[in-house]
Amino acid sequence: MILPDAVVLCEVGPRDGLQNEARAVPTQVKVELINRLSQAGFRSIEVTSFVHPRWIPQLADADEVMRRIERRPGVVYSALVPNERGLERALRAGAGGVNVFLSASETHNRKNINKSISETYPVLEPVVRTAKAEGLPVRGYVSTAFGCPYEGRVPVEQVVQVARRLVEMGVDEVSIGDTIGVAVPMEVTALVEALAAVVPLERIALHFHDTRGTAVANIAAGLRAGVRRFDASIGGLGGCPYAPGATGNVATEDVLYLLHRSGVDTGIDEERVGETADWLERALGRPLSSHASAIRRGRCGDGAAGAENEGGEGR
Ligand code: HMG
Ligand code: MG
Repeated sequence: MILPDAVVLCEVGPRDGLQNEARAVPTQVKVELINRLSQAGFRSIEVTSFVHPRWIPQLADADEVMRRIERRPGVVYSALVPNERGLERALRAGAGGVNVFLSASETHNRKNINKSISETYPVLEPVVRTAKAEGLPVRGYVSTAFGCPYEGRVPVEQVVQVARRLVEMGVDEVSIGDTIGVAVPMEVTALVEALAAVVPLERIALHFHDTRGTAVANIAAGLRAGVRRFDASIGGLGGCPYAPGATGNVATEDVLYLLHRSGVDTGIDEERVGETADWLERALGRPLSSHASAIRRGRCGDGAAGAENEGGEGR
């Protein structure tokens, strides 16, 4: 099997993670999280989203977060943007990348952004055009690519069709979202093969939620299928409030373990990410769900660390 020497990880915790927190997270914690992530070596961080604050109150401080973060050279500080109003706000706040989104299934699209799929394209087209004219990198998410919380299975052709439209609009990259965490590795292989007919492999990213514990295996499948860009969220935070039953994103630390142990470089300092996850647990006042966090807390047997952990509870 041929694995790449390196891949790009996009850290989506500050947006996809924090959009789903039950308790309000102080702006200063968000800013510090993003600063710590860029210091750990991430080159792509989704900072926040400029959606309607009534729809996602957790990120109502998007403007302030985007303005206050430290900017390190070479890092893309992107934001989720649903429409031209969101783009205006993102540009004013200094977003360094624009991420548009829609779903491959009609019902989730309507519940999430209040429009049918065909009504959404004309909303996104001017956003992509203006963001490109401003010289910003643009990513397009295709949500519910492996399953919809309202419609169940989503046909591969529907996902390919939405991805094709995004590429025709001019996005640089398409991120394929398993919003509710239902995918298994065989489906990942099949979908990537079908997508490769309309999107070059180097412009495909995979975005997994880990509801059923399949996300790390799905990343391994994506890697073997030739994908080189993956999304992850520190501590496994995350979820879409308009996708009932879905849990967090795949945890960044667990993806780093998979990649680094497989000899695939990310440019990210795993230890610093671990320290940041510990800090975040304290800041949020609750344990994070990643395997790595459980191991660090000694709750899970892992070689020498496990042997030292008398009375470890397992997991
Ligand atoms: P709407 O109510 O249909 O909006 O919501 P509208 O266009 O009819 O406008 C109504 C009012 O909202 C107007 O104000 C607009 O100006 C204002 P008024 O004239 O009445 O005073 N407005 C805005 N204000 C601030 N910022 C904006 C904005 N847009 C309009 N951007 C809308 C449509 C898209 C805004 C709404 O449905 C929305 O914000 N939805 C966001 C839902 C969301 O963020 N979901 C989670 C992210 S997606 C996800 O997590 C999946 C992903 O991770 C991938 C995966 O896992 O698969 C990406
Ligand atoms: Mg997501």
